[in-house]
Amino acid sequence: MADTNQIKHVASPLARQTLLDSNLTRPVAGNRPIKLLPWLQVIKIGGRVIDRGHEAILPLVAELRGLLSEHRLLILTGAGIRARHLYSVGLDLGLPVGSLAPLAASEAGQNGHILASLLAPEGVSYIEHPTIASQLAIHLSAARAVVGSAFPPYHHHEFPGSRIPPHRADTGAFLLADALGAAGLTIVEDVDGFYSADPNGADGKNAKLIKETSAAELAKHKGTLPFDPALVEVMANARHIARVQVVNGLIPGRLTAALRGQHVGTIIDTGARQA
Ligand SMILES: Nc1ncnc2c1ncn2[C@@H]1O[C@H](COP(=O)(O)OP(=O)(O)O)[C@@H](O)[C@H]1O
Ligand SMILES: [Mg+2]
Repeated sequence: MADTNQIKHVASPLARQTLLDSNLTRPVAGNRPIKLLPWLQVIKIGGRVIDRGHEAILPLVAELRGLLSEHRLLILTGAGIRARHLYSVGLDLGLPVGSLAPLAASEAGQNGHILASLLAPEGVSYIEHPTIASQLAIHLSAARAVVGSAFPPYHHHEFPGSRIPPHRADTGAFLLADALGAAGLTIVEDVDGFYSADPNGADGKNAKLIKETSAAELAKHKGTLPFDPALVEVMANARHIARVQVVNGLIPGRLTAALRGQHVGTIIDTGARQA
């Protein structure tokens, strides 16, 4: 009986408080979390790069191979043309967003399997989300890089704000990189970076490359983006990743330069502030 009493009154700074009042939780929960893998570079590769087939994939794989001696990598892949087809069929049938999200995520995984197969001779393999969550460190002790799906596993719990899943590969890659306290996140696109307007759109000729921007400025941008709008929202609450660079993966050397700290695409300042 006495034991039960002790358990009920276990000493903890949050034991008697509501978790809803940030003024009360801040003394305990306001510290910066530790960096789990501070040496890790996270690279997110867009599905539209992989959709282009061997002409785009083989040079990118060669570049990734070359990076292995310099960096330890978590390579995360997004979804492309097959997810877009799937959205159109699924939406035509009236499927809810929570049914579409895991279907689209499966394409991101397929793209990851493709890349991992090509990097297999270097000891690189594809690992599933639960393995990323609990065994990433041991996998990166055995190999210089691993590949995973960039899609976050909201799946059937995807937020119902829109019919297309709002949390896609860019958001997933950022959430992981920030949670791991990684050294950096580079987003690989099929364009040079973020432009004032879609460079492949109707008014593409007038689009200007914006070499430096911030999550706050992107939140005010009216037009389309080359990444998930939800990425901008999660950036505002980042704890570690202070900058993300968006680079063109179709131009050999850009990714390598970005990982060496050079400014070769669009650098986005997030909301993370160094303590
Ligand atoms: N403001 C913008 N700046 C750059 N690209 C943009 C912009 N708005 C739209 N795009 C388009 O986004 C495309 C990339 O699409 P996206 O869905 O991000 O591909 P992926 O799934 O490979 O990341 C680019 O080829 C470009 O045409
Ligand atoms: Mg993109």
